[in-house]
Amino acid sequence: MSPWPQFSSVAARSAYSGQSSEIPHSPGLANFGERPAWDKLIGMNRDLRGKRAILTGATGGIGRATAAALAQAGARVALAARNVEKLQALATITPGAVAIPTDITSADERRRLVENAIAELGGLDILVNNAGIGSWGHFASSSEEIVRQVMEVNFFSPIELTRLALPHLANGVEPCVVNVASMCGRKGMPAWPEYSASKFALLGMSEAWRGEFARFDVDVLTIVPGMTDSGFRDNWIRTDGKADLQFEKGMTPMDVAAGIVEAIARNRTETVLGKEARRLLRFNKFFPRLTNRLIARKVKRLYVE
Ligand SMILES: NC(=O)c1ccc[n+]([C@@H]2O[C@H](COP(=O)([O-])OP(=O)(O)OC[C@H]3O[C@@H](n4cnc5c(N)ncnc54)[C@H](OP(=O)(O)O)[C@@H]3O)[C@@H](O)[C@H]2O)c1
Repeated sequence: MSPWPQFSSVAARSAYSGQSSEIPHSPGLANFGERPAWDKLIGMNRDLRGKRAILTGATGGIGRATAAALAQAGARVALAARNVEKLQALATITPGAVAIPTDITSADERRRLVENAIAELGGLDILVNNAGIGSWGHFASSSEEIVRQVMEVNFFSPIELTRLALPHLANGVEPCVVNVASMCGRKGMPAWPEYSASKFALLGMSEAWRGEFARFDVDVLTIVPGMTDSGFRDNWIRTDGKADLQFEKGMTPMDVAAGIVEAIARNRTETVLGKEARRLLRFNKFFPRLTNRLIARKVKRLYVE
């Protein structure tokens, strides 16, 4: 069986079918056939061919799909995550990729990641901060340790990695930082207090960076996905939230990967991915009080009985 899920969505196809003959292919990678008119796509202004990228969280559902998508778009990727075996297996099937085992919460390992990526790739054009953890349960029964752990992985580590990468990005070609947040980073959700806070923080930092990094010509792009059937829930610190979360009805990791690559190619400032995320955020924008009331009613029903 192919190690890669197949790219199924129309968005994925349109985002990945831009392959030229010089882009190598792995037998496991999805192939979208003929090269379409990438260059003619309105608003697109970044060519990923030959771009040098760091991708964190590469061993996870969204990370694996994004590694494949970046490689298919012609980028060379330094893959980072803690699981050495998974990372090396991924590197062997991802054209042009190198595995750099990294715990992003370690300052030394972050430094080594950037140094090794520069040594292997000869520079840096794209940093995708994708690694993340979740914790599903209410604040009242949570702990300081959980808040700090979630903030460490989802906020402090990506921003400190970006601090190290920035001087290299500033010397890169059409450089950008891509921060993978969540719809919980635009609307705080019950049972996701620490996670929501960490993703809000990441989005807030990204907005501030946009103005600051402009002088280095480094773009800052944010990705705001809704529920994705990625295996994310297998890695949560806490799992005692009560709603019926139907991840299997969410997006595929390929959909998200397609959205990430499309955002990079078109230099989209913020990309909300998933019907349910778009619907919720739009409803909340126009009817914030009603949204809060409906959410609170649902929580009371779940937790009072
Ligand atoms: N799935 C969803 O519904 C959803 C929705 C919105 C946003 N997101 C966001 O999308 C991103 C990817 O999530 P996913 O769904 O693909 O989840 P996942 O399958 O659990 O992947 C998480 C990735 O993060 C890595 N990671 C965790 N802690 C790390 C650390 N200390 N150092 C280095 N790497 C670390 C894991 O690798 P190792 O364990 O090998 O280190 C893994 O590669 C996350 O930022 C998540 O918040 C997910």
